[in-house]
Amino acid sequence: MKKILVTGGLGYIGSHTVVALQKAGYETIIVDNLSNSSLNVLGGIARITNVSPTFERLDLRYKAEVVDFFKRHSDIEGVIHFAASKAVGESVEKPLYYYENNIHTLVYVLQECVAHGIENIIFSSSCTVYGQPETLPITETAPTQAAASPYGNTKQISEEILIDTCAVENMNAISLRYFNPIGAHKSAEIGELPIGVPQNLVPYITQTAAGIREKLSVFGDDYDTPDGSCIRDYIHVMDLAEAHVVALERLLDNKNEEKYEMFNVGTGRGSSVFEVIEAFEKGTGENLDYSVVDRRPGDVTAVYADTSKANKVLGWKARRTMEEALASAWKWEQKVRNS
Ligand code: NAD
Ligand code: UD1
Repeated sequence: MKKILVTGGLGYIGSHTVVALQKAGYETIIVDNLSNSSLNVLGGIARITNVSPTFERLDLRYKAEVVDFFKRHSDIEGVIHFAASKAVGESVEKPLYYYENNIHTLVYVLQECVAHGIENIIFSSSCTVYGQPETLPITETAPTQAAASPYGNTKQISEEILIDTCAVENMNAISLRYFNPIGAHKSAEIGELPIGVPQNLVPYITQTAAGIREKLSVFGDDYDTPDGSCIRDYIHVMDLAEAHVVALERLLDNKNEEKYEMFNVGTGRGSSVFEVIEAFEKGTGENLDYSVVDRRPGDVTAVYADTSKANKVLGWKARRTMEEALASAWKWEQKVRNS
């Protein structure tokens, strides 16, 4: 069994990817500092897959610990690097923390990969690198735009670090540019656990339906879109998880055409905020209390992926529906509240 390191593997996308990796026959080793996750996630993964992944609590900001970890695990064949901080607003308040946690950690991991001959890296990037593109859907050739936040900037800098490293080292990397991941594993054993008041739409919806939030605020209905609300490309987190497995296999099987490649990972469909609310109400039978408020500063009008590169080159396509994703998010919310 090939051994794959998953940094940040107890987090939202990482934990679902560990499930997908184990189902595909890989041995996984997770490192996480638990800054935005909990040890309980290990139990959830084990209940779904019947395998408890190896876990080490490690803060990747501490280089000496990263060096020591890789010395003990030089048989790793691929790395999926999720570990990072991801709150856009917080990154504006604490830029240096974001540059340390998102950039230093990547550099330390890459240095040890080079030192130990680990050649295959998958990196978590984001559609945020495109800003508001001039044409939709967005292809990978669309120009990146000046980042609107330190968080967004860390994703652009990280991609550049990977390009420069792959150019000179024995390293192959794929950046996956995620659109908007939502939902949970259908078992409701793992899911998204936002700390405090959720900033993202779907956790806010499920917490409102659960009675934890009084009402959902729809941030603007005067955008230049058919119903006036913003449009995004919401992808089921298990579809996203599976994209990591196929991207990794492309590298492990030496099928990549370039040493550095990047792919959009979305559904290719844009949905408005009102459409998400309607799909949630229809799929769950819950009535959602909401009202329209002012636009949220920094929001772009419409973003959705052209996924033809991932479809053709990776042979991957998002399979699950928005209704399925929202139903799984709701099931997870209820489970979390009742446990
Ligand atoms: P998450 O916060 O749930 O998971 C990140 C995990 O990394 C957490 O478990 C956290 O404890 C861990 N971590 C953070 N800093 C660490 C460190 N220094 N050492 C070890 N572990 C550390 O986030 P997520 O939603 O699963 O996102 C995973 C990755 O995908 C991140 O890089 C994020 O920027 C990127 N991404 C996420 C989204 C999204 O909407 N969730 C969209 C685009 C890109
Ligand atoms: C946000 C981040 C982005 C990150 C992405 C995925 C910002 C400005 N952008 O994008 O960098 O890559 O998450 O994690 O934070 N909405 C409401 N009411 C709410 C919450 C959201 O109407 O209570 C609307 C938003 O205006 C937006 C849509 O829902 O139109 C989706 O919002 P959200 O889930 O926060 O994702 P993004 O804004 O796409």
